[in-house]
Amino acid sequence: MAEESQKWVLMVTAQTPTNIAVIKYWGKRDENLILAINDSISVTLDPAHLCTTTTVAVSPAFNEDRMWLNGKEISLSGGRYQNCLREIRARANDVEDEKRGIKIAKKDWENLHVHIASYNNFPTAAGLASSAAGFACLVYSLAKLMNVQEDNGRLSAIARQGSGSACRSLYGGFVKWVMGKEENGSDSVAVQLVDEKHWDELVIIIAVVSSRQKETSSTSGMLETVETSALIEHRAREVVPKRIIQMEEAIRKRDFATFTHLTCADSNQFHAVCLDTSPPIFYMNDTSHRIISCVEKWNRSEGTPQVAYTFDAGPNAVLIARNRTSAALLLQRLLFHFPPNSETDLNSYVIGDKSILKDAG
Ligand code: ADP
Ligand code: DP6
Ligand code: CO
Repeated sequence: MAEESQKWVLMVTAQTPTNIAVIKYWGKRDENLILAINDSISVTLDPAHLCTTTTVAVSPAFNEDRMWLNGKEISLSGGRYQNCLREIRARANDVEDEKRGIKIAKKDWENLHVHIASYNNFPTAAGLASSAAGFACLVYSLAKLMNVQEDNGRLSAIARQGSGSACRSLYGGFVKWVMGKEENGSDSVAVQLVDEKHWDELVIIIAVVSSRQKETSSTSGMLETVETSALIEHRAREVVPKRIIQMEEAIRKRDFATFTHLTCADSNQFHAVCLDTSPPIFYMNDTSHRIISCVEKWNRSEGTPQVAYTFDAGPNAVLIARNRTSAALLLQRLLFHFPPNSETDLNSYVIGDKSILKDAG
């Protein structure tokens, strides 16, 4: 009987979309708790496209916590995984599966181990916010497994300790990560500004320029920037606070011209502070620059902006079109400038089965 009871496994699977910042987070004031030096705002993508799927399992047969990412075992010894696991375990509750006769008491969670299998359906560590979808999904699925009763705001503060950008993936629509003031990070949480229905004519197109893993992770890149760039302080103190206010208003009013101006300017300034880092960090490449020129020229020739661009810590473009008509025209332009079967990696992604064309939210 004792042996029988060792055999059960209880599993939960969750899916979490990635989010792309339109006002970027770059720089921490606390490395361990992951507290940012400025607020940030992002849009959460449709989970049908860029997302992480994570299955978490618990069993008395497991004798240590283990994790597999995209099929390969990874170490959970890093502080970020440990912080998330500890915070969720501390909030675990009784769990009962009546049908299978499984009962886990709140206090049992201290001695039970979990196995985690996670899969990203888009390039990992290539500047498409895999850490955001990944840690949000990890925290969400563990919270479900352990019957944690916290709301998404509290869960966002735990996901933040896995990766800063992850706190924003707990909500759909447009989301703000409030940097907070408290030293313990209790007020550094994500809040939803508007839900996914608010601005549903927007269409987001991801142009995958390269799916290779970046040379400088976001974590080490922003640490080097804070240590060596003089521009970053000006950005965090003077520029971003004003942009946050303007961006919130643009989103609420669905003011695409202001939204585009702020989104593009903030992406460009983020890459400027990367260049101002010593040694300089280059996340964008020639193809990224060509995409920027193409969009800038088009927006200028139209008089009113049709598409906003933003690039995270990688060369891949996130293009936000004002509506379906502009999105279709954008795809035509991309196909013209980056024709199929030419040398740029982008082509196969835009026209092939990896192309992504989806309403925001
Ligand atoms: P990205 O631009 O993709 O967010 P980062 O450098 O910020 O790149 O983070 C990449 C790291 O995030 C990976 O090396 C891994 O440690 C972590 N990560 C990515 N996907 C997941 C996942 N599904 N679950 C847990 N951690 C993940
Ligand atoms: C450029 O959240 O990946 O994507 O907190 O160290 O895990 P860590 O970094 P991460 O940084 C994201 C940087 C960014 C901008 C953003 O998402 O706001
Ligand atoms: Co990241």
